[in-house]
Amino acid sequence: MKPTYLAPSILAANFANLERDIKMINDSEADWFHIDIMDGIFVPNISFGFPVLKSITKHAKKTIDVHLMIVNPDRYIKEFALLGSTNLIVHYEACTHLHRTLQAIKAEGMKAGVALNPHTPVNLLKDIIADIDQVIIMSVNPGFGGQSFIEHTYKKIRELKEIILNANASTLIEIDGGVTDQNAEKLLASGADILVAGSFIFNSKDPSHTIKAMKNIM
Ligand code: DX5
Ligand code: ZN
Repeated sequence: MKPTYLAPSILAANFANLERDIKMINDSEADWFHIDIMDGIFVPNISFGFPVLKSITKHAKKTIDVHLMIVNPDRYIKEFALLGSTNLIVHYEACTHLHRTLQAIKAEGMKAGVALNPHTPVNLLKDIIADIDQVIIMSVNPGFGGQSFIEHTYKKIRELKEIILNANASTLIEIDGGVTDQNAEKLLASGADILVAGSFIFNSKDPSHTIKAMKNIM
């Protein structure tokens, strides 16, 4: 069976108890930390910036998956590398020279990813798929946690999987937004490798148990 990864989204954590929530993820069966950076321009919300990221990476002991929902991501690539990001994901819609941006991310020693808004077709990545370590298919409109899952996502996963296989590439498929125990199995069966889950994990009574239950499904 292919490896799959569960990435709890810190956006849904308790920011007054961040160290506690990070420790919970460290000690849980979760695989990655998913960290959402929002600038209030690319998306209609502001999350947090470098000082908070620095505090997170200081305590986090797993892969740091950083999802940039910002304009001009090129300006900050070096800084994100210095702060301990493992994977850096930029939005297709925010990059004029996407190929160049991906190379710059890799030059800083990080895995390079591309995120697609719900309206952006996966075939736009066809010509550079082999240069992309991971693609985030947004299954909600980016900007907020706790939104409901867009069903069209399954079709996009299948289309993207075909593009990856045809190119003989090893790009991973990540799904972000509205992921729960109700859609996890179908997402993986459609071809997803990584599931991000925020509110489903952190709003549950026992987040560590919810992570375990999700990993059992996976
Ligand atoms: C949305 C963010 C997501 C968000 C997911 O813009 O990219 O990572 O935290 O949250 P849930 O799982 O609550 O939809
Ligand atoms: Zn995200």
